[in-house]
Amino acid sequence: MIRSNYFEKSVSRETLVKISKYHGFLIENNRKMSLISKNSENIAIDRHYVDCAQLIKYLDKSDKTILDIGSGAGLPGIILDIIKKDYNLEFSTHLVEKSPKKVKFLNEANSFLDLDIKIHNCDVRMISKKNFTTLVSRAFKPMKEFLEIIIESNIDFKKIILMKGEKFLEEINEAKKYFEINCESHKSITNPSSKVFVIKGVSKI
Ligand SMILES: C[S@@+](CC[C@H](N)C(=O)[O-])C[C@H]1O[C@@H](n2cnc3c(N)ncnc32)[C@H](O)[C@@H]1O
Repeated sequence: MIRSNYFEKSVSRETLVKISKYHGFLIENNRKMSLISKNSENIAIDRHYVDCAQLIKYLDKSDKTILDIGSGAGLPGIILDIIKKDYNLEFSTHLVEKSPKKVKFLNEANSFLDLDIKIHNCDVRMISKKNFTTLVSRAFKPMKEFLEIIIESNIDFKKIILMKGEKFLEEINEAKKYFEINCESHKSITNPSSKVFVIKGVSKI
């Protein structure tokens, strides 16, 4: 079982067991393929799982279908799906990931953890489902490129939650040259130099 003050305080024992199972499965598979950086394996709980779980506070009952774009190992989508019932949320979770190898891992994790996540193996621009209430993404693309891809994808959404690292200011300033962005930014609880952006509206200038 993983040890984590954050999760021990915020989720049920059953959920903690599931996060632990996910951790074991991820580390086992990380030997065969690159899902998370090897250097972060020992600190995966805070660096990856708590980092992803913190997004749950920006979701509410109006978030019905979430799409995690460039999900990789399932971050943040799988973590949010595992913890949602501790927050009385009932959204359905979709992941889109273009790498077939990673999608094989995601499908196996979905069954192993007994989740009901929908996994799309394609470039997000080609995704057939176009309606989501909420888009989430972590370590995918710089903000300007991300917004261009979303517009090209013709996806409908009400909200975007983006996790951004140390270059967040540079990224938002660049994106604002091309897009009118209505967003709030919040401190990350895992890294003081990172931010969580909640975007409620975006249009091309
Ligand atoms: C750096 S990883 C981040 C993975 C994960 N979100 C995380 O936080 O660890 C970016 C992922 O996006 C996927 N990806 C890149 N371009 C994509 C696209 N156009 N459509 C779907 N997935 C894409 C890559 O295959 C890769 O798994």
